[in-house]
Amino acid sequence: MFDFFFEQNTKISGWKEYPFSKTAGVVFGNPLKPYFCRMNSGTPIKTNDGSHTLFNDSVGEHYHSVFGAVQESEHIFIRAGLEGKQTFPEVLQVLEIGFGTGLNALLTLKWAEDNHQPVQYIGIEAFPLTETTLKQLNYAEMLHIEPLLFLKMHQSITQQQITSHFSLQVLHEKLQDFLPEKNRFHVVLFDAFSPDSQPEMWTKEGFIKLHDALISGGILVTYSCKGSVKRALKAAGFSLEKLPGPPGKREFLRATAL
Ligand SMILES: C[S@@+](CC[C@H](N)C(=O)[O-])C[C@H]1O[C@@H](n2cnc3c(N)ncnc32)[C@H](O)[C@@H]1O
Repeated sequence: MFDFFFEQNTKISGWKEYPFSKTAGVVFGNPLKPYFCRMNSGTPIKTNDGSHTLFNDSVGEHYHSVFGAVQESEHIFIRAGLEGKQTFPEVLQVLEIGFGTGLNALLTLKWAEDNHQPVQYIGIEAFPLTETTLKQLNYAEMLHIEPLLFLKMHQSITQQQITSHFSLQVLHEKLQDFLPEKNRFHVVLFDAFSPDSQPEMWTKEGFIKLHDALISGGILVTYSCKGSVKRALKAAGFSLEKLPGPPGKREFLRATAL
C-alpha cells in the first residue's frame, strides 16, 4: 500500500450533487469560488476482464473497450504511453484528455508507486461523473487501492499530492477552452469519445494545441487509427507509429511531437 496524503478529518464528501436531474450541477468545496458544471451519471457494466465501464447515452458509446477496460487502458495508455519513453525525467508530466472515470489516472498512480517515478498528472474533463456513479465502479477494489483515495482523486480540482509519487489536478473544462502551458508535458493520453461521435475533439487545431503543450519528442497515445485522425495528427506536426492493439482492437496510434 502507498503513503496517503489525507489530512486528518479530510471530508471526502466535499461536493454536493444537485438532485434535480440526471445530469446535474455541482458545487465544489470552496464556497468563495464555486464551480458549476454539467455532470454525467450511469450504471456500471462489466467488461470481459471483470472491470467496469459506463455507457454514455447521449454519445451512444462506452467509456472503454467492452473486451476489458483495465486491459485496454494498461495496453494503450500505460505500456505504450507512460512506458513509451526511453528515458524518464525527474517528474513525468502527463496530460489526459477525457478524464472520465479516472481509470487511466488510477493505473498511472499505481505505475508511479510501483516504479518510484514521480508523476504530475493533469486531467481534462468537461462533464465529470457524479459521486454516486463513481462509488459503484470496481477499479479501486480490482487494483487493491483504497476506495476513498479514488474519490479524493475526483475532487482534485487544484493540484493535490495523492500518494508519495503521484499528484493530480482535474480541470473541469472543454478541451476546446483549455489553454495548456507550452513545452510542459512528456505524455498526452488522448481518450476522447470516437471521432465518429465527437469529431470536434479530433481536429488539427486541437492537436496543434497538444503538440505545443508537449516537449519536443513528447508522445501522444490514442486508441483510434482512423484516417482522418492520422491526417490531423500529421498536419499538427506529429510523426506516427501504428502499434498492435489489445484484444478487440487491431491497432492503435502513438504520435511523437517533432
Ligand atoms: C472515452 S470517455 C473517457 C474515458 C476515461 N479516460 C476513463 O478512463 O474513464 C471520453 C470522456 O471525454 C469527456 N468529454 C466529452 N467532451 C469533452 C470535451 N469537449 N472536453 C473534454 N472532455 C470531454 C467525456 O465526458 C468522457 O468522460
